[in-house]
Amino acid sequence: MSDKHSFEKSFREVRTMMRMIVLLFLAISGVLLFVLFDPDLSSFQSARPASVVNVQDSLDQGLVDADYDAIENGIHLRTGFVEAEGLMTVVNNCTNCHSAKLVTQNRMTREGWEATIRWMQETQKLWDLGNNEAIILDYLAANYAPEDTGRRANLADIEWYVLEESSD
Ligand code: HEC
Repeated sequence: MSDKHSFEKSFREVRTMMRMIVLLFLAISGVLLFVLFDPDLSSFQSARPASVVNVQDSLDQGLVDADYDAIENGIHLRTGFVEAEGLMTVVNNCTNCHSAKLVTQNRMTREGWEATIRWMQETQKLWDLGNNEAIILDYLAANYAPEDTGRRANLADIEWYVLEESSD
């Protein structure tokens, strides 16, 4: 009688312990999965970084002054982008995650730019650009196309000088 009771009691204890071990194992493997596959927990963050601001809203609220988007000699001073159609669409979509320099130092065909955008969308959480994509591609293809000659232009206005032979 009492043997049966103590057997039941220890059976329950073992069962409780087994359950705790299973739970602990599940919790540890859950943590391990994140440590292995998503160490910066980026799957919990929304694709659009919190730092994205709408420039027009900021201007309206007086958070930035009008000089913020000043253009001098055809260059958008804040980013270094060439002034042309689509400039602000590019500024608003292509300078949120990295410096504008990363864009302006590159020269690509329209296909090249498109492939770069796809790559960022697939691997870097770049958002769907919607109708802006065509505007951005037009801008980049027109203003950041590959230089069409591999050779530099001939030098002009050079002051030549004659090398004098030394007398000794
Ligand atoms: C959601 C974030 C994000 C946005 C927005 C974004 N990019 Fe990127 N982009 C990245 C990351 C991350 C890299 C890799 C940076 C590095 O290697 O340091 C990158 C790299 C690049 C590169 C270099 C690619 C290479 O092969 O080295 C170019 C060019 C570029 N981006 C252009 C753009 C353009 C054009 C836009 C606007 C359509 C844009 N990016 C918007 C995240 C973004």
